[in-house]
Amino acid sequence: MPRLADATEPAVAHAAALLRAGEPVAFPTETVYGLGADTFNEAALDRVYELKGRPADNPLIAHVLGADQARRVAVGWDDRCERLAGRYWPGPLTIVLGRAPAVPLRATAGWPSIAVRAPGHPVARALLEAFGGPVSAPSANVSGGVSPTTAAHVVADFALAADLLVLDGGPCAVGIESTVVDLTAAVARVLRPGGVAASQLSELLGEMVDDSIGTQGPGPGTTMRHYAPRTATELVDESALHGRLAESVEPAVVLCFDDAPIVPPHRAIVMPPTAEAYAARLYAALREADEAPGSLILVVRPPGREGLWSAVMDRLIRATHRHAR
Ligand code: TXA
Ligand code: MG
Repeated sequence: MPRLADATEPAVAHAAALLRAGEPVAFPTETVYGLGADTFNEAALDRVYELKGRPADNPLIAHVLGADQARRVAVGWDDRCERLAGRYWPGPLTIVLGRAPAVPLRATAGWPSIAVRAPGHPVARALLEAFGGPVSAPSANVSGGVSPTTAAHVVADFALAADLLVLDGGPCAVGIESTVVDLTAAVARVLRPGGVAASQLSELLGEMVDDSIGTQGPGPGTTMRHYAPRTATELVDESALHGRLAESVEPAVVLCFDDAPIVPPHRAIVMPPTAEAYAARLYAALREADEAPGSLILVVRPPGREGLWSAVMDRLIRATHRHAR
């Protein structure tokens, strides 16, 4: 089993020492837990790919304290970046820029660009400060699976990694991953929706921001099936739920807003009605449903479309996509 440690000051100092020694460390951010390694240590980055089973062509986000560190790993930090970072950093916004020549190819899976984000979680920031450099970290889950929003989720995914230190900073407040915006082309483009909407970015930058990539874009890390439980998972309209349950021969776990129509052997997990609370609960609920007996998870389609609901829908569409990983 990995080693779970409350994120006290000595534990954070120890984690930073491990990073310096080229070991990966799992740590909390406000979005999801990350599995971090020294951005400048290729062997440590290899270990992250290996632990996650991450495809070798899917690049990592470099976590930084702010603009100064971002400029060490990225080229093209311009006025737009200043404005975005000024408004949204530290926080759940990731900016894709050109990769600085000093950054090892492994940190960006060979891509000429690099994603940078300044996390807001105090433990992530304390770790970055104690380490003193950028930390490349994907979400701390097995590749393709449900992202982790508690330290226990990380321990469950990496049960076999006996030497992995997991800093426990409690449940993640945002609960879904950062918005990823690509500034390497003439038109800014949202590669992954998150809490910061394209319209907000567009308003701040005073220019068009393309969010048409939706759930089927080209480029790194855009596989359709992602964030997926092992159990078959389907998205259903509230109005179709009764019929779907009636035809199911297997007990189902239903992520719903109202548990009234759900009777044994089916089981309800009642989800919160607001997008913020839903997002914060989503991955824990999917994991709970995955652990429960039964071979079907039904997710009732949320009513909202705007703002954070569109990021939630992105995750639900990917989690319920049928194609093989
Ligand atoms: O909220 C988050 O972003 C979390 C926490 C830990 O910071 N991290 C996270 O990392 O979600 P990961 O690796 O699970 O997802 C990173 C996403 C992937 O879709 C990846 O393809 C994209 O960012 N990405 C990373 N570097 C990129 C690059 N150079 N160009 C385009 N996309 C990139
Ligand atoms: Mg991920």
